[in-house]
Amino acid sequence: EKKPIIVAIDGPAASGKSTTARILADKLGYIYIDTGAMYRSVTLKALREGLLDDLRKDESGISRLLRTITIGFQGDRVILDGEDVTEAIRENQVSREVSFISSLKLVRDKLRELQQQMGRKRGIVMDGRDIGTVIFPDAELKIFLVADPAERAKRRHVELSLKAGGAAVPSLEELEAEIKQRDRDDEERTHAPLKRHPDAVLLDTSNMSIDEQVNVVHDLVMKIVGQS
Ligand code: CDP
Ligand code: CDP
Repeated sequence: EKKPIIVAIDGPAASGKSTTARILADKLGYIYIDTGAMYRSVTLKALREGLLDDLRKDESGISRLLRTITIGFQGDRVILDGEDVTEAIRENQVSREVSFISSLKLVRDKLRELQQQMGRKRGIVMDGRDIGTVIFPDAELKIFLVADPAERAKRRHVELSLKAGGAAVPSLEELEAEIKQRDRDDEERTHAPLKRHPDAVLLDTSNMSIDEQVNVVHDLVMKIVGQS
């Protein structure tokens, strides 16, 4: 039996992190942890409790919420305080506020602790913005995925159109603007900004299929765990 490793996958929105991480984890028999879903869950809870306006003035108001929150995964489902929120955390309002909530130090401290706990036995693929830099700088394999903003907007558009089943979805222009804004917010924040760890393998997926990008990462894992 090979020793399990940690695969850390970071990069901007719609670069392909979660599809790659999910398939890779499946192939390896590892656990996949979507840390974006954890930040989205905190955001959903703050929205439901009507805290957003107050938090913009004084972030200490988030500490009560963080004291009692529970976030977990059951297969592909995301469970917040015992409730399945897998769909709810993808709502537009959550997407709009998640970068703000993610910029708060108290939130990052709490989720860092939870995420490091989840990876203590290794054998995980974790994706997000700061996994290679902050959460697991000792991950055996670090990947940084990028893709052209226009290509990423196209991907999101396809994804949303499929989900909407005929209902209106934002235009390509709107989606590209939203993606670029979120990239900027994530890159410019003080605590754990989005950036490539110097050891992370840079992979531009603009012209890659999902299969191709999974294969590249899978080959890198095989080199490390020594079976191929
Ligand atoms: O899937 P998508 O690219 O829309 O984003 P996500 O992975 O669900 O992450 C949503 C947001 O959570 C990001 O834009 C970041 O603001 C924040 N995030 C973070 O700050 N750190 C992480 N490790 C993961 C997500
Ligand atoms: O997790 P992240 O936001 O980085 O991206 P994702 O959710 O894995 O990918 C965003 C969308 O792009 C999904 O609908 C993927 O199926 C699609 N995609 C693609 O069409 N081609 C790729 N090479 C990678 C992702």
